[in-house]
Amino acid sequence: MKLSERTKFIKPAVTLAIAAKAQKLRSQGVDLINFSAGEPDFDTPERIKQAAIGALKKGMTKYTEVRGIEPLREAIAEKYRREYNVHYDKDDVLVSCGAKHALYNVFQAMLDPGDEILIPAPYWVSYSDMAYLAGGVPKILPTTEETGFRITPQELHKALTPRVRAFVLNSPCNPTGAAYSGADLKALGSVLEGHDCLIFSDDIYEKIIYDGFRFENLLTVNPKLRDRTVIFNGVSKTYAMTGWRIGYALGPAPLISAAGKIQSQSTSNPTSIAQAAALEAIRGPQDEVETMVAEFQRRRDVIVERLGSIPGLTCFNPQGAFYVFPNILRLLGKKANGKKLASACDFADYLLEEARVAGVPGEDFGSKENIRFSYAASLEDVEKGCQRIETAIKKLG
Ligand SMILES: Cc1ncc(COP(=O)(O)O)c(C=O)c1O
Repeated sequence: MKLSERTKFIKPAVTLAIAAKAQKLRSQGVDLINFSAGEPDFDTPERIKQAAIGALKKGMTKYTEVRGIEPLREAIAEKYRREYNVHYDKDDVLVSCGAKHALYNVFQAMLDPGDEILIPAPYWVSYSDMAYLAGGVPKILPTTEETGFRITPQELHKALTPRVRAFVLNSPCNPTGAAYSGADLKALGSVLEGHDCLIFSDDIYEKIIYDGFRFENLLTVNPKLRDRTVIFNGVSKTYAMTGWRIGYALGPAPLISAAGKIQSQSTSNPTSIAQAAALEAIRGPQDEVETMVAEFQRRRDVIVERLGSIPGLTCFNPQGAFYVFPNILRLLGKKANGKKLASACDFADYLLEEARVAGVPGEDFGSKENIRFSYAASLEDVEKGCQRIETAIKKLG
């Protein structure tokens, strides 16, 4: 069968494929530690579920406005005014079926064939495929552990050629957990001021931060960039609502309206009752978020310490999100059950087979020498998983 040209460039999201494989093994009774999940292992808070139930009972089961219900868009705009002193109106907000969908719509609305989009690596798996789907050309800008997986202003300046139409900023970052401080953002903002490109700020892990790190938005530190910045966020990670599929974009009204037009010809509105739940999530008390983050921090401390003590691994200490991205370079070339480990993919396969631990190889995040482990798993599983990884690594020849 002849498939469209654009499908040839893209891969299925590897993170979802591995999570599905892990789930299948578990359903077959395999005692598996799943460090591949990109979602909190906590349940959606009860008050949020009740809001959805209430909406159902009230008959909120019809199409809504394509861009999302007005109270939700107003609540999102209000959140950014209150928390970050960043001023948007409800008409500057597009609510979509997850932040992924909001990104997709904006990429489609803003990129023309051949437009370059600058993506610092390691990066979240979907940016480059979404760029391809919009006819764009991803330009990868590598970062190193030495600079905390953050690009420096000098590197950004060098990479911003006139062909670059958009720049992606993801802090805290999936997969590294690296986060940019206000001072870092100020320095990057000064560079961006001198180059007329769009800025896509993916803030989805904004609340999952540790050790008192203060999350800042690029526009709080540099409001001059407002007219060409789009902020992406959603309720998936902060409120353990991945399955509800609500995310959003905030940006200048003409751009948001163009992205809304794309949405109107694909999904129409995101699910009505999920929007009611998201409204409660954003407007209601935020204590559950703090409890969840405190638990993530306990797990991060354990996993970083345990992995870092395994000979052959080094483990960067993330400031946010719920992933670690240990470096496995010193293990590559070693033999596992008589076979040479040639790549992070080989190492991930070995861990799955030998240790029954699922992780996501770094290749799809733009790094050949790392593996991503998610600690959205109980502390007991985190400890058990680290023990299994250590035992498996000790068997390498
Ligand atoms: C960096 C980043 N951005 C966006 C998303 C999309 O989140 P959602 O579509 O669930 O809102 C994810 C999910 O894994 C992510 O890690």
